[in-house]
Amino acid sequence: MHRFDTVAALRQHLNSIRSEQTIGLVPTMGALHEGHITLIETARRENDVVVSSIFVNPTQFNNPDDLARYPRTLEEDCEKLEAAGCDVVFAPSVSEMYPETPLLRMNFGELETVMEGAFRPGHFNGVGIVVAKLFNIVQADRAYFGQKDLQQVAVIRRLVRDLSFPVELIRCPTVRERDGLAMSSRNRNLTEVERKQATTLFKALTLAHELLTEGLDVEQAKAAVTGLFADNPHFRLEYVDVVNANTLQVASEVLAPGQTAICLAAHLGKVRLIDNLVF
Ligand code: PAJ
Repeated sequence: MHRFDTVAALRQHLNSIRSEQTIGLVPTMGALHEGHITLIETARRENDVVVSSIFVNPTQFNNPDDLARYPRTLEEDCEKLEAAGCDVVFAPSVSEMYPETPLLRMNFGELETVMEGAFRPGHFNGVGIVVAKLFNIVQADRAYFGQKDLQQVAVIRRLVRDLSFPVELIRCPTVRERDGLAMSSRNRNLTEVERKQATTLFKALTLAHELLTEGLDVEQAKAAVTGLFADNPHFRLEYVDVVNANTLQVASEVLAPGQTAICLAAHLGKVRLIDNLVF
């Protein structure tokens, strides 16, 4: 596995590959778990060369404590990537990615006035800029993103369309722990007690899904979720929304198969967790 920390060295390496081989890109912020590794494995099957980036992108953190607490485990991550068949790791420093603070601002309009966009102002500006930079640096044929961050997928899909990036986006299913908790780098920051409580997110999504398929309306399903969290003093539920999985606009009823998403975010101690279920 090759490892680079400068844009110039990475570009030189990939330039020699690009004309004959397909490149799959998996952008990450490291602290890798099975969710990330599944993206690598999918990219491995579908491309000649797999490139993964590890960069804790400061511009997408709206909370400085969250950025400071974000786990950083580069050496361990590289071992996992190599074992999963990744060919190239790009792990730049902040000054390599941002020689100057970007003046550009990205605004994804109605895609970011809801959910994560509403509760994390500036978050998708940072995601949009770093992903656009990675697309330009790597010039991959395909890029892999997890459904875990459904709104991120919608924003990046729009970024690709609006700026005509020649890359195919692939959305990969959410990988979960045995008890249903969606894998996340932030799960490492949960205490033992919180870790047990954390299954409430998936339970809430499953409950809402059941109620909606039984014919209850969206408001009733949301009320049931709110009730579940209200009974649990460990949590502060930030939002629960039923939306169109592609446009993210609020859905007042269940849509065609595969189009409805139940999305939620909740604070558990110092950790903020998100999850969703698409059906
Ligand atoms: P990060 O949170 O490290 O996630 C990297 C990729 O892994 C994202 O596409 C995310 O959706 C996916 N992922 C995370 N947990 C997953 C799970 N349990 N199952 C499946 N996929 C999962 O998302 C980011 O980093 C950043 O915003 C980034 C796109 C790298 C830009 O900085």
